[in-house]
Amino acid sequence: MTPIRRKKMNKQETAAYRIKLEESRRFLSGEIAPFPPIAMVAGSGLGGILDKVRVIKKIDFSRIPFFPISSVKGHKGQLAFASWNKQNIIILSGRKHCYEGQPLSQVVLPVRVLGLLGLKILILTNAAGSLNPYIIPGDIMCITDHINLMFRNPLIGFSPEEWGPRFPDMSDPYDKTLREIALEVALERNIPLKQGAYAGLPGPNYETRAEVSFLGTIGADVVGMSTVPENIVANQMGIRVLGLSYISNSHALKPGSITSHEEVIQNAKLVGDKFISLMDGFMERIGDLMMKENV
Ligand code: HPA
Repeated sequence: MTPIRRKKMNKQETAAYRIKLEESRRFLSGEIAPFPPIAMVAGSGLGGILDKVRVIKKIDFSRIPFFPISSVKGHKGQLAFASWNKQNIIILSGRKHCYEGQPLSQVVLPVRVLGLLGLKILILTNAAGSLNPYIIPGDIMCITDHINLMFRNPLIGFSPEEWGPRFPDMSDPYDKTLREIALEVALERNIPLKQGAYAGLPGPNYETRAEVSFLGTIGADVVGMSTVPENIVANQMGIRVLGLSYISNSHALKPGSITSHEEVIQNAKLVGDKFISLMDGFMERIGDLMMKENV
């Protein structure tokens, strides 16, 4: 059997990658000014969010130098500069996933570029399958922590100092203050908001019954195929992360039931209004926080 070679970047590849990041950064700073300190990655099925905000400018990923374009149904590949409750925000509709087969440096490229543009807060959203009987399809879960089961890490390889520490701390990868704000907003608006840990798997297949049992045992509440690489890079770059999973299916309520991508996309849409309301309140509150912290 041929051994699997894990691709990590050496110094020359990193130099080429930094040139890509710089081209991408330069393009975006020419298109959007001032560049907002908040961004959101809208996961599968949440593309419709753009209809709910005041979009100032939309740019297809294909126009942004080196931005990775997802091959997955339900991922648009668009960057929107928008105003949400008087707060300017970048919304990325679509992301590249580990299972699409390219190096993780591609998956995290947009986060690195936004980091170089001065991003302070990143909202990562995803569709996820529940492993916990108290977290059910249609729920939103605030991610408190994650378990990286992708067996890959976007920080492996040469790591220039400007990207942040070589050995980043990950004791609070989903910022406590941001989580508290989300919980307060949820309470005010009567939106049930669950909390729990996200297991990030490479995919693309859904889990076997034995895997579901294993994931529950090791402390995961939900499972998905994204978010973890972006979160790691954001933490390295000192960007605070809020993670929100919308639950599209449950492995806990109906063990062994069939999961399909169509079901995931369809159910993700059901969460739409609750999600928009939560984000609406969050954006209102985040403006106050940024003013207080002088961001
Ligand atoms: N497993 C992995 N990823 C997912 C799932 C799931 O059940 N649902 C949505 N994304």
